[in-house]
Amino acid sequence: MRKKIELVDVKIPGFDEPIPASTAALLEKKYKEWTASDFAGFRRLVQPGSAEFPDTARIKKLADEKHHGIKDFVLLGTGGSSLGGETLIRALRPSLGTPRFHFMDNNDPEWFSWLLQNLKPEETLVYAVSKSGKTPETISQLLVISDWLKAKLGDKWKSHLVLSTDPEKGDLRELASAQGFACLEVPSAVGGRFSVLSSVGLFPAAFAGLNIESFLSGARSLAEHAEKDSQNQMAKLAHALVSHAGKRPITVLMPYSSQLGAFSRWFCQLWGESLGKNGKGLTPFPAIGTTDQHSQMQLYMEGPKDKTILFVKVKKPDATLPLPKMEGTEKLPSFQELAGRSMRDLFDAEFNATRDALQAAGVPTATIELDCLDEYALGALFYFWELTTLYAGAALEINPFDQPGVEAAKILTKRYLAATPGK
Ligand code: PA5
Repeated sequence: MRKKIELVDVKIPGFDEPIPASTAALLEKKYKEWTASDFAGFRRLVQPGSAEFPDTARIKKLADEKHHGIKDFVLLGTGGSSLGGETLIRALRPSLGTPRFHFMDNNDPEWFSWLLQNLKPEETLVYAVSKSGKTPETISQLLVISDWLKAKLGDKWKSHLVLSTDPEKGDLRELASAQGFACLEVPSAVGGRFSVLSSVGLFPAAFAGLNIESFLSGARSLAEHAEKDSQNQMAKLAHALVSHAGKRPITVLMPYSSQLGAFSRWFCQLWGESLGKNGKGLTPFPAIGTTDQHSQMQLYMEGPKDKTILFVKVKKPDATLPLPKMEGTEKLPSFQELAGRSMRDLFDAEFNATRDALQAAGVPTATIELDCLDEYALGALFYFWELTTLYAGAALEINPFDQPGVEAAKILTKRYLAATPGK
C-alpha cells in the first residue's frame, strides 16, 4: 500500500498527549452516530458497494461522450458545489491548455457577461451543479447560459449541458427528467462541502483526464487507517485545536504549493461553515507559501498569538528548475547567493525558515506532508480534513453537517427580490 499523507513536526500544545478517555468516547460516539445517519454520507463515498459510492464508469463515459470539440468547461455552482471541482483541477491541471476550466461560483452579472462574451457556445460544455436543485445563484446562471447556448446551437443546445443534483428531489432533478438533460447524482446524504469525491468533483476531473478512481483510493486509505485507530492523527489534531480554541481561535492553512491555493479556499469553506455554530467555532484563514511570507508573515510573527499555522508540503515534487548563471552578475550579492542552486532549493529553504521562525516565536505549527501531488495524495488530503472536521464538530459538541445560519440572508434575499423593481 502506498504511504498515506502524514502530519509531521507537530508543535501544537496537547497533540502529543493521548485524547482523554471521556473525549475519545464522545468522538467515537459521534463518529458512529453520524456515519450511520444521513449526515456523514461522505464516509460512504469511499466505500465500494455503498449506495453513495460514485459510479466512476458512468462519469468517465459521460466525460468521454461530451469531450468532442469542447475547448471550455464551465462549472455553474456555488460553495461546495464549485470549490471541490475547482480544487481538483487547479491542483492537478494547472496548465494553460485546453480544455480551459471556468468555475463560476458567483452570480456577479459583470463577471458572467464577460465570460459569455469570450466563449463560443459550440466549444463550451456547461456543468451545472446544485445538490438542493434550488440555489438561486446557480439557477440564474443556468437560465442565462441556456439561452446563450440555444441562441447559437438551436436544437443541439441540450447536448452542451450536464447537470448534477440530488438523485430524486429538487427542481433541477425535475427539470432534468422532464427535458432529458444528462444528469449525475449528488447523493442525498452528502452535504455540499463534503461532496468533492462525488460526481461534483469527479466529473470535471474525469473531463480533465485525471484518474478518478485514484482519488477515491487515496481517501479510502485514510478512512481505513482512522477506523483502526481511534487515536488517529485527525482525531488528535481536532482535539488539540478545539481544546485551545479560546486562546487560538484561528486556523491558518498554508500550503507551500501554488497548485494547492484553491485547496486553502476549499478548507476555509469546510472548516468555517461546518464548525461556526452556537457561538463556537474555529476561524479558518487561507494562506499560501511563499507568497504570504510577504503579506501575512509579519502578523503571524508579531501580531496576536491567536493562530495555529498548518502547512502542507509536497515531499517529492517534479520540478526543480536549476538557476542558470547570468553574465554581469558576478559581483551582485543577491544573484551570487543563488549561484549553483535551483528554484526548488530556495523554495524549500523558505519553507523550513518560515516554519522554524514561527516555532521560535511561539506560534503552534504542524505540517501535513504529501509524498507527491497526485490524485491519490489529493484524495487523502481531502479526506484528512473532512474527518478532522467531523472530529472537531464532535469535540465542539455541534453538528458540523448543517448550516442553519445561512437561512436568514436567504429569506431576506427573497424579500428584497420581490420588493424591488426589475432592472
Ligand atoms: O456546503 C454546503 O452545503 C453549501 O456550501 C452548498 O454547497 C452551497 O450552498 C450550494 O448548495 P447547492 O449545491 O444546493 O446549490
